[in-house]
Amino acid sequence: MTYDVVVIGAGAAGLMCALTAGYAGRRVLVIDHANKAGKKILMSGGGRCNFTNMATTPANFFSGNPHFCISALKRYRPEHFVELVERHAIDYVEKAPGQLFCADSAKQIVAMLLTECDWAGVEVALKTSVTRVERCGEGMRLLTSQGVIEAGAVVVACGGLSIPTMGASGFGYDIARQFGLAVTETRPALVPFTLTSQWKARANDLAGVACEVSVHCRRDGRRHGNYREPLLFTHRGLSGPAMLQISSYWQPGDELEIDLMPEVDVPSALAAARRDTPRRQLVTWLSEHLPRRLATAIGEWYGESPTLAQLSNAELEAWQQRLSAWRIKPAGTEGWRTAEVTLGGVDTQAISSKTFAVDDLPQLRFIGEVLDVTGELGGYNFQWAWASGVACGQSL
Ligand code: FDA
Repeated sequence: MTYDVVVIGAGAAGLMCALTAGYAGRRVLVIDHANKAGKKILMSGGGRCNFTNMATTPANFFSGNPHFCISALKRYRPEHFVELVERHAIDYVEKAPGQLFCADSAKQIVAMLLTECDWAGVEVALKTSVTRVERCGEGMRLLTSQGVIEAGAVVVACGGLSIPTMGASGFGYDIARQFGLAVTETRPALVPFTLTSQWKARANDLAGVACEVSVHCRRDGRRHGNYREPLLFTHRGLSGPAMLQISSYWQPGDELEIDLMPEVDVPSALAAARRDTPRRQLVTWLSEHLPRRLATAIGEWYGESPTLAQLSNAELEAWQQRLSAWRIKPAGTEGWRTAEVTLGGVDTQAISSKTFAVDDLPQLRFIGEVLDVTGELGGYNFQWAWASGVACGQSL
């Protein structure tokens, strides 16, 4: 079998690249070892797929080479994907500023991509594994469970390591290493934190409670990253958008510094409350600013349920620390099992940011999450998958 292009990975980036190359007249085959295309799209955004973020800029991405993503993101913008979604009459909603989700189901995005692939004449081979990729003159040769396939170009769109049960594998990194490319250290990101025994038990008691916080990561006395979003207590530890976001900065041993009341100046608000309502319980005041279960729990953690009048100035300061700069050292993260993305990946130094071709080997390309380009939470990772897929597909 011979194709102009073989794409390994029928995920977001691979399908987008395939349909773009197909419309450009290339004979394209997409191979995936999974039994369904776009499994991560299907499970994304709680089944509704946060398919883009209208405010996407290169600053929303982590990479050893922060300039690498600029070109593709500039050429294929969120408006372009929205236009595609609208052409397929898929209803969508803006859940948070800029974050667009399907109003109905993520299945519609996968169906849209497969329909476009079909219209573009792309063939999709599922349940097909690739055992070897090798150079073959000016082209490439793949050994697969369906036999030998020759291709003018191979596009590696295998994604990252998160959620192995959904088909994730390190195969893209293996191919990169085989052809002499570096792979930067990979880490699970956009992932909940786990806690040690005492804090784990406390989080467990509060499972389901959420509140808006501001969070930093602390390492060597310095703050890294800052997000103001909801925190969610879970049976295992801490989750919610604020925790998923800051996990991209977190390394083992780091502390989190959490402002539980980012909208309140705690010492002056407490001092005013002590002056105006001295007989009120501290926990009653806390529950004006925090969910009641959390307010009660915090009172118990610090063994205090005094009236406001009983608080000394020194105690006001202690409460400032507890509420505005609560420090906690996670035991770890939930890891690849639940991480939404992989930080790190194929080093972009030897890859063209315009065509995604490997320097000196233009018949081999890498796109999407397999590369060392990782977005923040909020639709950026899909925008990267679409943009890198289109840029590569147009150049094939
Ligand atoms: P992707 O992982 O989509 O596709 C890779 C494909 O390669 C898979 O189909 C896989 O089976 C295949 N493959 C792997 N190894 C192979 C091998 N050896 N042989 C053949 N095929 C192989 N992002 C976002 O922007 N908005 C959101 O709402 C969410 N939500 C979300 C929820 C959850 C639970 C997860 C896990 C992730 C998200 N993401 C997200 C992240 C987003 O899903 C991710 O960044 C993109 O799917 C990456 O697209 P790729 O095409 O690069 O990889």
